[in-house]
Amino acid sequence: MIVILLGPPGVGKGTQAVRLCDALDLRHLSTGDLLREHRRGGTELGTQAQSFMDRGELVPDELILGMVRGELEALGDGGVLFDGFPRTVPQAEGLRVVLADLGRSLDHVVLLVADDEVLVERLSGRRSCPECGSVFNVHFNPPATEDTCDRCGHEGLVHRTDDQPDTVRNRLEVYRRQTEPLIHFYQAGSPGVRRVDADQGVDEVQAGVRAAVDG
Ligand code: AP5
Repeated sequence: MIVILLGPPGVGKGTQAVRLCDALDLRHLSTGDLLREHRRGGTELGTQAQSFMDRGELVPDELILGMVRGELEALGDGGVLFDGFPRTVPQAEGLRVVLADLGRSLDHVVLLVADDEVLVERLSGRRSCPECGSVFNVHFNPPATEDTCDRCGHEGLVHRTDDQPDTVRNRLEVYRRQTEPLIHFYQAGSPGVRRVDADQGVDEVQAGVRAAVDG
């Protein structure tokens, strides 16, 4: 199965992706997490991506597509959940080419939807596990033990540098301008787009996502 999880910054893509991948045995392919790994590892790609990410701008399409192609080739036939990719129409067109080259096809596109005030509030309280990618929130979804990942036990959850208010505003504008057109891109063809109301509790949203990919 190949699934794309679409939606604005802070809507809960990462939160839902981890749960769906555990439930359906999919590989979680978050381009944001992959880029942050490259940055931590000091690779050339990480260095090239850094200034774009810190400003809340998108990393150039060709860098992203090269990275995703490499990941898919290494994965073989396994199921994949894309989180935060594609983010532009050229990336979506590039993904079609890569999937066709690998003899694979897209099964589901799921769009998470919530108002901007909800997104800004969620991002201000977000804490992430640098080890396994699990996401928490000091207001809505705190870890059982303060500053410790519930999933892998890593101590030291991080507040992302691009979650500062000015950068969040820019990320939302970038989403409207460059990523929202993808909704029409996928609505116009197969498999279409299924919308899930993301302004509900984590379990309710997960139930909506499961219904979207099961139905
Ligand atoms: P990326 O890491 O992909 O960030 P994003 O899309 O902005 O999304 P976020 O990770 O901020 O939010 P999310 O929807 O995953 O929400 P989360 O689950 O964490 O990208 C970062 C940067 O990398 C980009 O700006 C760009 O520079 C670059 N980049 C990445 N991919 C790229 C690409 N394809 N092309 C070009 N550039 C690319 O949830 C948010 C918070 O809310 C958490 O605290 C969570 O606990 C809480 N929460 C979640 N669900 C709920 C709920 N139902 N109720 C209450 N709280 C909730």
